[in-house]
Amino acid sequence: MEKKNNIAVYPGSFDPITKGHTDIIKRASKIFDRVYVAVLHNSAKNPMFTIEERIELIKRITGEFDNVYIDTFSGLLVDYMEKINANVIIKGLRAISDFEYEFQMALMNHKLNRNIETMFLMTSAKYSYLSSSIVKEVAKYNGSLDGLVDERIVDDIINRAYKA
Ligand code: PNS
Repeated sequence: MEKKNNIAVYPGSFDPITKGHTDIIKRASKIFDRVYVAVLHNSAKNPMFTIEERIELIKRITGEFDNVYIDTFSGLLVDYMEKINANVIIKGLRAISDFEYEFQMALMNHKLNRNIETMFLMTSAKYSYLSSSIVKEVAKYNGSLDGLVDERIVDDIINRAYKA
């Protein structure tokens, strides 16, 4: 059988990137030839960080993975994937509550492009409660971000939370 050159995309808002995200990126980088972390350009949300800032924060903590690339996209994920010749969507699944929405997205993306598959990695148990929203909430009320986000981006989040 022909050997496939599997290019995976890990899409999301990453506002900001958490340790749960980094864990998925690290594990995906061991499975796929190339992993694109694709930051969604979504003007409808009220983000803590701009796209450029989010990309910079992600680059700062994923520099050690040599097959991981950081990019941004707008519009449909499957259209972006076609452009970069990617065939797998990576998603982290935290709990049952994630499943229904992710199942719907996976089916829709597969309907839009039959060559694209979604693969789920179970989030490591220690990060199963973590989300970008929870990180922002904790930072806003001056709680400790220890263990929630990479040490190298803690100050950026705290400084931004105080400004908000
Ligand atoms: O981190 P998030 O905000 O949960 O990520 C959501 C994301 C970016 C994966 C999702 O909103 C997405 O893929 N948006 C692009 C539009 C699209 O292709 N939607 C799916 C088919 S309707």
